[in-house]
Amino acid sequence: MGSVPLDIWEQHYADGQAFHPLGDAERALLAEHAPAPEVGGRALEVGCGTGELAAHLTAAGYSVDALDLATAALERARTEHDDVTAVRWMRLDIELDDPAELDDDGYDLVTLRLAVAFLHDRTRVLHTLGERLRPGGAVVVITPTATDTPAERRGIALDEGELALLGTGWETAQRLEADGPAVLVLQGPCHARTVAVERRCPPAGPAATAALAVVTDRAGRVLLGYSRRGMWELPGGKPIGADLFLRRVARPARPRLSRPGLRSGRARPERRLARRHPRSSGRPVLPPRRRPAARTR
Ligand SMILES: C[S@@+](CC[C@H](N)C(=O)[O-])C[C@H]1O[C@@H](n2cnc3c(N)ncnc32)[C@H](O)[C@@H]1O
Repeated sequence: MGSVPLDIWEQHYADGQAFHPLGDAERALLAEHAPAPEVGGRALEVGCGTGELAAHLTAAGYSVDALDLATAALERARTEHDDVTAVRWMRLDIELDDPAELDDDGYDLVTLRLAVAFLHDRTRVLHTLGERLRPGGAVVVITPTATDTPAERRGIALDEGELALLGTGWETAQRLEADGPAVLVLQGPCHARTVAVERRCPPAGPAATAALAVVTDRAGRVLLGYSRRGMWELPGGKPIGADLFLRRVARPARPRLSRPGLRSGRARPERRLARRHPRSSGRPVLPPRRRPAARTR
């Protein structure tokens, strides 16, 4: 979904509504897979709503930072849990706002309950949150699944492909069930500050045409570049202004096999790929040169 306007959330909470309460199966899975450390455990609850899970985590031994973008949700959370002291309620849009208020010492647990489906760029958010995990910590995502959700409410749920995507870039991604919602336990972010990007629509403008050469093996599979960050990455390009793009594309281009950020020198990645994919010739296959598109106003 990723596009519920803020005023809808505000109205929802101002009207006294809430969401499906935390179930026994969820509590049991959290106790088993994300117990609080003996001392000093810290948790971050993202999209906390009226704060039921945040309060539960304090009872389980965590001190909690609980954030939501809806002011009305936080007002209700403060009122409904005014006896809970080990929680800091924060108004923050996890995708857009400066996370300066979050704890620099990191968290043993980050939770997103019934919230991840509403994020625009889920994998980026999860990986950014993963960077805040203390050693041994976990991000736990609790979400309805598309198979268990009526079609008209599909936007609140994730399908199997979307769930699998959330598990990429982690050392372990455990998928569990909690009497309905899926529970993902993600540990060991291993993306080394590289984010996987989920696109629901094609990139607009220059970014769509920035790749002038694609390296494939004999089977037509797109080969990747080996980046300085130690990752295999798809060749691509950053969106640039239309004028700069036209200047670059309009001039006769020599085939480029790397892009800024990729290691220079072709031999290394191709040799490595040839070893990894026995059918790869290791030779680049370049598409025919194209005339630049006419500039239109
Ligand atoms: C379906 S509610 C779930 C609330 C709570 N986690 C629960 O289980 O009852 C989703 C919550 O995520 C919050 N939310 C959505 N996008 C957010 C964002 N970008 N940053 C912070 N909170 C967000 C909404 O305001 C809403 O309170």
